[in-house]
Amino acid sequence: MIATTIRGVHGRRVWDSRGRPTVEAEVELESGTVGRAIAPAGASKGSGEAVELRDADGFDVRGAVANVNGYIAQALVGADVEDQENVDRLLLAADGTPDKRRLGGNALIAVSMAALHAAAAAHGQPLWRYLAADATSVPLPEIQIFGGGAHAARRIDIQDLMVVCPSARSFAEALERTAAIYRAAGAYLADQHLLQGVADEGGYWPVFGSNEEALDALVRAVESAGLVPGSDAAISLDIAASQFGSAAGYSLGCDGMVLDTDGMIALLERWIERYPIVSIEDPLAEDDCEGFRRFTAAFGSKVQVIGDDRLVTNTARVRNAGTARLCTGVLIKPNQAGTITETRAALAVARESGMAAIVSARSGETEDVTIAHLAVGWKAAQLKVGSFSRSERMAKWNEMLRIEEAIGPVATLASPFRKCV
Ligand code: PGA
Ligand code: ZN
Repeated sequence: MIATTIRGVHGRRVWDSRGRPTVEAEVELESGTVGRAIAPAGASKGSGEAVELRDADGFDVRGAVANVNGYIAQALVGADVEDQENVDRLLLAADGTPDKRRLGGNALIAVSMAALHAAAAAHGQPLWRYLAADATSVPLPEIQIFGGGAHAARRIDIQDLMVVCPSARSFAEALERTAAIYRAAGAYLADQHLLQGVADEGGYWPVFGSNEEALDALVRAVESAGLVPGSDAAISLDIAASQFGSAAGYSLGCDGMVLDTDGMIALLERWIERYPIVSIEDPLAEDDCEGFRRFTAAFGSKVQVIGDDRLVTNTARVRNAGTARLCTGVLIKPNQAGTITETRAALAVARESGMAAIVSARSGETEDVTIAHLAVGWKAAQLKVGSFSRSERMAKWNEMLRIEEAIGPVATLASPFRKCV
C-alpha cells in the first residue's frame, strides 16, 4: 500500500449558510492524512446541473450522506488520490447516471474535493500550490453589494449587483475598496430607511422601487467611498434572467414590465450606456439561445457576457456556447459539474474557446474555502463568492489574502477589465 491510497471515506451531515443540511466528506489515506470538504447548494440553479440529492422531504441529505458512507466508500477504498481523474471515474461509475441523481451530485462533489485536499495534504502543500506550484496570479474578486432575485424574495429582479476593482494592484487592495463601498452602501440605505437586512450571499437587501434605483444607489455608494465609478470600481451584474423569464418573455416585477427578448436586450443596452458596467451574467434565460447570441454579438466587445444557468460547468455545453458565440465568459461552479475532474475540464474548454473563466461559490455556502484554492491553482482570472459580510463569504476572501501573502511579492492581481475602463 502506498501512503496516498484511500483507507476510508466518511460522510457527515453538516449545516450551510441558509440553515439547511448539506454533505461533508472526509477522505482518509493509509498514511493517516485526511482531506475534508463540504458541498455548497444553489438556489437559482440551471436545469442541467448535477442533481443535488435531497430526501423525500426535499430538505434533508441523509440519503446523500448514507451514499458517501456506503456505495462511495466501497468504490474508493484502495484508490490513489494522486490520480484524481481515476478517483472521479470511480465516483461516476458508482453513480452510473448521466446527471448523478442516484448517489447525488452533492455527495460526489464533497468526496471529490475531499480527495483532492487529501492529496495536497499528503504532499504537505496548500491546495493551490499542489495544483500549480508556479502560480503567481490571484483572481480579481467580484463582490456583491446588493442582493436580489431568488436570494432576496425578488425585491429587485437583478440577482447580484456587484463591484470589481479593475485598477486595484492587489487582492488586498480590491478588498479595501470593496469594504469602503459596502459600508457606504449600508450607510446610505440606513439613512434612506431602505434597509431590510442582508440577502443570502450577504449583500444588502433593500426596498428599491426599480432596478435602476438599485444601480443608481450602487454608483452613489462607490462615489461616497471616495472612489471613481468605472476605473476604481466598476459594476458587474448577474441578471439571473432564468428566474423571471424565458425565451417566451421576461417579467420584471420590480419595474412592472413584461418584455420580449428584444425588449430585454434594449433594457440591458440602456444600463450598459448609463452605468459603468463591465460584466453581465445570464442577461437572458437559459433557454433563450438566440437572445444570448444576439446580445453577445451586439455587446460582447463592450462587456463580458457570462453564461451560468445555460452552461452549468458542463464541457459539452461550454463548447457549444463557444462555437455559437453565446457568451464570452463562463461561470465555473464545482457542484454544478459534480466532480473536480469535470469542473477542471469545463474550465479547460472555456479557455480553449477563448472565454474567460470565473470560479464561483453558491448562494448556500459554508466555511469550506476550496474554491479560493481552485481559482489560484487553476489560474482563473476572476472569483465570485458573494458579498462582503457573513462568514461563509469572508472565509473565502480571507483565505485569498493568505494565499496572496504566501505567494509573496511576485503576486499579481489578474486584470481582465483594465482595458475596459
Ligand atoms: P445560486 O446562484 O448559487 O443560488 O444558484 C448563484 C448564481 O446565479 O451565480
Ligand atoms: Zn448566476
